[in-house]
Amino acid sequence: MRLIPLQNPQEGGAWAADYIVKRINKYRPTADKPFVLGLPTGSSPLLMYQQLIKHCKAGNVSFKHVVTFNMDEYVGIPEDHPQSYHTFMYQNFFNHIDIDRNNIHILNGNAEDTEQECKQYEEKIASYGKINLFIGGVGQDGHIAFNEPASSLCSRTRIKTLTEDTRIANSRFFNNDISQVPKYALTIGVGTLMDAAEVLLLAFGHNKALAVQAAVEGSVNHMWTVSALQTHQKAILVCDEASTDEL
Ligand code: GLP
Repeated sequence: MRLIPLQNPQEGGAWAADYIVKRINKYRPTADKPFVLGLPTGSSPLLMYQQLIKHCKAGNVSFKHVVTFNMDEYVGIPEDHPQSYHTFMYQNFFNHIDIDRNNIHILNGNAEDTEQECKQYEEKIASYGKINLFIGGVGQDGHIAFNEPASSLCSRTRIKTLTEDTRIANSRFFNNDISQVPKYALTIGVGTLMDAAEVLLLAFGHNKALAVQAAVEGSVNHMWTVSALQTHQKAILVCDEASTDEL
């Protein structure tokens, strides 16, 4: 795993954005050979998205031939709910770049048949060969996407019950009221993430220090699903100073 220890989240967001721009431009995507990018939500990628928007507006990168797959989506809130990951992605990124909307893929948390929805998502990813670069955040308990502790490290896209800790952490987006936080989510699996050619994770703040320690120094185990990245051939962990406190 390549560890990129930086001073603060601003530097981390800029580093990640530069990396994505470099990868897309080096690949030179075309209509029939798009660059496939996996994307996260959460506060960690926000600065990265802002930088990417700037790069796109400045003409440094184009998303016209980029296909995206988001990591996860809540179950049981409408797509246009202010805290749905659909809303997050359009407000914070997609509305501001030159991406073709047909190239955006986000799990439908309101699908009648969630099993079928997850199966089709995996098939869609597979139809592109593989994800070139998957960006992610990390939960305080080391979860990646919504692969909560004890998720199989070979898991594929499926429905997951969110842990109490995750619901408490995410209640800050739901008026600090845990009863408003969905209990379930659809999420790509650890195996889905591991299939990407490259994975870049972002961890900022002291509350991520134990997750960063588990990712870098811990043993590979399903209680800290982020630790699976130790067995990936091309994984990058971008950290700020506070998140490396336990290393
Ligand atoms: C949620 C998301 C994860 C994200 C995590 C951390 O649980 N499903 O993908 O990594 O939150 O979020 P934040 O970046 O806001 O700390």
